[in-house]
Amino acid sequence: MILLVNKENIFNENMLKDFQMIEYENYDEQTKYIESETFRHFEMLRAHLSIEDIIIDIDGAYRSLETQENLFLSFMKKYGIDYAEQIVAMPGTSEHHTGQAIDIVINKNGKWIIENDDLLKETEVFDRIHKSLKYFGFILRYPKGKEDITGYPYEPWHIRYIGKTDAMKIGDLTLEEYVNNKKR
Ligand code: DAL
Ligand code: ZN
Repeated sequence: MILLVNKENIFNENMLKDFQMIEYENYDEQTKYIESETFRHFEMLRAHLSIEDIIIDIDGAYRSLETQENLFLSFMKKYGIDYAEQIVAMPGTSEHHTGQAIDIVINKNGKWIIENDDLLKETEVFDRIHKSLKYFGFILRYPKGKEDITGYPYEPWHIRYIGKTDAMKIGDLTLEEYVNNKKR
């Protein structure tokens, strides 16, 4: 079953009962937590991309309610409340609580590109990354032009593991549309 967490479908801890979170130390030597199957597939995606000379890492994956709240507050301080509300989910409405969402960063010429504004400029690299996602069970969760359905602007860095079978089938649909179609 695919977990749908958004502004209408609130996260609850019960969703994690079959999940195992694992620890991961990222490019910045920070310890991150991520759902184990998501990580296993991320490693395959990463290995595949490295053959194409694209280097990626995990900026963040699993977030507790508290971490999400702190993220919101730090965005609010840095960019103001309007931008924070636009781009950061309120605690309990973020799919990062599932551990199946990953914010990726990319390395270009030995330097990690981590800021949202800088990542948004990397259109060519992200196009290539996005093309590979489905073969490893991932989708681009907040695509361009679907803001009114997902509730969020385009986020090239935010990928979501849903398993290969569904990722191959979803096509241009958002996860909201795909899950609702499945229920019918
Ligand atoms: N940036 C995404 C929407 C989140 O905070 O979960
Ligand atoms: Zn994210």
